[in-house]
Amino acid sequence: MPRLLIVHHTPSPYCQAMFEAVVSGATDPEIEGVEVVRRAALSVSATDFLEADGYLLGTPANLGYISGALKHAFDGAYYQILDSTQGRPFGLYVHGNEGTEGAERAIDRITTGLGWAKSAEYVVVAGKPSKTDLESCWELGATVAAQLMES
Ligand SMILES: Cc1cc2nc3c(=O)[nH]c(=O)nc-3n(C[C@H](O)[C@H](O)[C@H](O)COP(=O)(O)O)c2cc1C
Repeated sequence: MPRLLIVHHTPSPYCQAMFEAVVSGATDPEIEGVEVVRRAALSVSATDFLEADGYLLGTPANLGYISGALKHAFDGAYYQILDSTQGRPFGLYVHGNEGTEGAERAIDRITTGLGWAKSAEYVVVAGKPSKTDLESCWELGATVAAQLMES
């Protein structure tokens, strides 16, 4: 069964709300035959990446970059997954308050290096997530999961 791996760093209620909306979209009953696995960024392993068929990444913007936790996830797994995960689809959600461009650019660079395929627009939220923001998170989860269903 295709597997979607959600790798997230969730340090606050706003990030948690976005994470839950993404999970809800990815696990919608209409999406059949896709296993959704969640891993905190500080505990995800290279094996987790290798055993998945697509990825959802979630992070706050911190100091103009992705969270140290998500950076740690890629620092630890990058070369182990480089040859084996190319072409796989991914999506990203970011929460920030003061500018998320650095985090978005970081994910652009990392995923370009890995050869992953951006399969949905990034969802970027500043401050308290609105109903529309959470719907966008839901759509993000559903979109990436549905791609695996079709593959
Ligand atoms: C050390 C630190 C650095 C941060 N740097 C940024 C940043 O560069 N850009 C940004 O948009 N938000 C930044 N933030 C805000 C976080 O993204 C925000 O705290 C996180 O998304 C959780 O949201 P909340 O604190 O509103 O619940 C920073 C927060 C901390 C603690």
